[in-house]
Amino acid sequence: MRGIILAGGAGTRLHPCTNVVSKQLLPVYDKPMIYYPLSVLMLARIREALLISTPQDLPRFRDLLGDGSRFGMRLAYAEQPRPEGLAQAFIIGREFLAGGPACLILGDNLFYGQGLSTVVRRAASITSGAAILAYRVADPSAYGVVEFDAGGAAIGLEEKPRAPRSPYAVPGFYCYGPDVCDEAARLRPSARGEYEITDLNRRYLDRGELRVEVMGRGIAWLDTGSHQNLLQAGTFVEAIETRQGMQIACLEEIALRNGWISAAQLRTQVETMGRNGYADHLRRLLAEEMAA
Ligand code: TTP
Repeated sequence: MRGIILAGGAGTRLHPCTNVVSKQLLPVYDKPMIYYPLSVLMLARIREALLISTPQDLPRFRDLLGDGSRFGMRLAYAEQPRPEGLAQAFIIGREFLAGGPACLILGDNLFYGQGLSTVVRRAASITSGAAILAYRVADPSAYGVVEFDAGGAAIGLEEKPRAPRSPYAVPGFYCYGPDVCDEAARLRPSARGEYEITDLNRRYLDRGELRVEVMGRGIAWLDTGSHQNLLQAGTFVEAIETRQGMQIACLEEIALRNGWISAAQLRTQVETMGRNGYADHLRRLLAEEMAA
């Protein structure tokens, strides 16, 4: 399975902060926002990914992440000329996906908690159909919303409904079988002019091939699209990291644990990172490895 990180968008709700810089390059406490969704792909053991962003912002992402080899990945880049919807990822990414299954993650979504790796790996193991997540939120009206029947089977999907039929929002992590680009190519823009991910998901629901996994409250799902959400996400990360002395979304750490980079490679990389919390965490990790 290959991954796509969608990191374009207009970011209008974060203006003027995002007038000249991508939302996904803004800090969430101590690292750029893009690290968080990237870390989730890595936890799902997806090693090859395409990062899609605006023509203006794409060079900055390339500067930041390079070819991904620093953290054991292979990253490619593609432009989305205009923010015409999430499902456009599969029109832009067709060549990159080369007829294989795909996992899309949104660049402004943050996931953290017990059992997250299991959930995302399970979704990323599908070979046909689609697998999405559902998560209870106080106000689902800003998201895609999934409706369940009494037996817990998904029976409906709506995009940003004014009167949601359930409290379950669909987080920005979606997995599809190899037909996803063909399905996306059949979509027509919605009334707001976007290729809607909800319309894509509904195609799978209609053919009985949409798996929806409800993610429990032990996992935090935060989005960072408004000033308030962004601040809350930063505060959340700060609280957990300070309390535990660990890092959320430390890419090199995940790569090391996945066996994608060696301790020797990481030691060399850390030497160039300077003194900061991120690098100090990696130094501690390497010292613990040596002691073990
Ligand atoms: P949104 O939060 O829906 O949109 P946005 O980022 O443009 O922000 P705003 O509503 O404030 O204008 O986007 C969700 C994520 O998907 C975010 O990471 C940006 C990304 N995105 C794209 O890359 N391309 C698109 O066409 C759209 C709609 C979103």
